[in-house]
Amino acid sequence: MTEMLRDRLPARVRVVEVGARDGLQNEPDPIPTEAKVAFIEALAAAGLDTVEPTAFVHPKRVPQLADAAEVMAALTRQDGVRYPVLVPNAKGLERALQSGVREIAIFSAASDGFNEANIGMTVDASLAGYDALMERAKAEGLWIRGYVSTCFGCPFDGAVAPDRVAEVTSRLLAMGCDELSLGDTIGVAHPLQVEAVVAALVGARVPIEKVAFHFHDTRGTALVNVLAALPLGVGIFDASAGGLGGCPFAPGATGNLATEDLLYLLDGMGIETGVDREAVERATAGIAEALGRQPPGRVYNASRSATRAPVRWPVRSDEA
Ligand code: HMG
Ligand code: MG
Repeated sequence: MTEMLRDRLPARVRVVEVGARDGLQNEPDPIPTEAKVAFIEALAAAGLDTVEPTAFVHPKRVPQLADAAEVMAALTRQDGVRYPVLVPNAKGLERALQSGVREIAIFSAASDGFNEANIGMTVDASLAGYDALMERAKAEGLWIRGYVSTCFGCPFDGAVAPDRVAEVTSRLLAMGCDELSLGDTIGVAHPLQVEAVVAALVGARVPIEKVAFHFHDTRGTALVNVLAALPLGVGIFDASAGGLGGCPFAPGATGNLATEDLLYLLDGMGIETGVDREAVERATAGIAEALGRQPPGRVYNASRSATRAPVRWPVRSDEA
């Protein structure tokens, strides 16, 4: 008999919550710092062990996150939770260290076009800059995530070769990143591309257990891409509460895969995450109030509109 899907799935997956950073960075109207802090604290309380709170980037480039230091000062950190902040350069690292940050994320890309629009330099130049930054970050004992954007397509350069993704990922790994997050920045990926990128990573001897995928759901393919990645040994996925977000420097980028949608899929398939989906929905409802509108996440909206359901969805496949 053909091997069943359930036999090829991991028992446990880690979800990295990026809603307060990737989710909010593109919001045009100012969001009060207290609302952001309440959102981050509610997400950690929901059981997420990694919650990205903000970014120490240039405040004029991303005005919404200009209050990064205030957010970090007001935040009550929970034991056992990582709070990585985006850091693009030495100035960002200094600001982050002054805020008592213990986890950072550096970010480059698999394509020059996007990297130049995002941080004003080629991929090679950014990696050279991070080399020096990593030395200081490692000396401080920081935990470091490395983002590779545009792994499945670039809004400026078009198609991206899986070997290029593997090369940039390997270089970040060699610099000392503890975890790599491979982004589908503009949400163009499909499952066979996921398979091709994983094959290239395996070919380049990148340890898959250190790799996260960061899907944006622009074209509705984020969850099928997760489903393609799971049997290939990928066990970390980024998601954004309510499906908020997008990158201001990637034309056409919309929200990340919604955390609730990801959890619905994983819960239903009996994959443990340690995250309480209903608590994430409550965190989303809180930030939605501050935004004055409802975010697009499908499961979040389905829960809001549900009346009295005869069963508690999803029915887990191991219970049915
Ligand atoms: P720059 O202007 O080229 O920087 O910005 P510079 O080194 O030329 O410095 C110019 C001035 O900016 C100086 O001040 C610096 O001190 C200051 P002056 O001497 O003129 O008074 N400066 C800073 N101030 C505060 N914080 C800093 C900082 N750096 C310099 N960190 C820079 C270069 C990279 C900083 C800028 O382009 C930038 O901040 N870009 C924002 C990028 C960003 O946040 N993008 C969105 C996140 S990435 C993403 O969304 C993708 C992801 O989700 C994964 C995926 O989906 O693929 C992660
Ligand atoms: Mg992103």
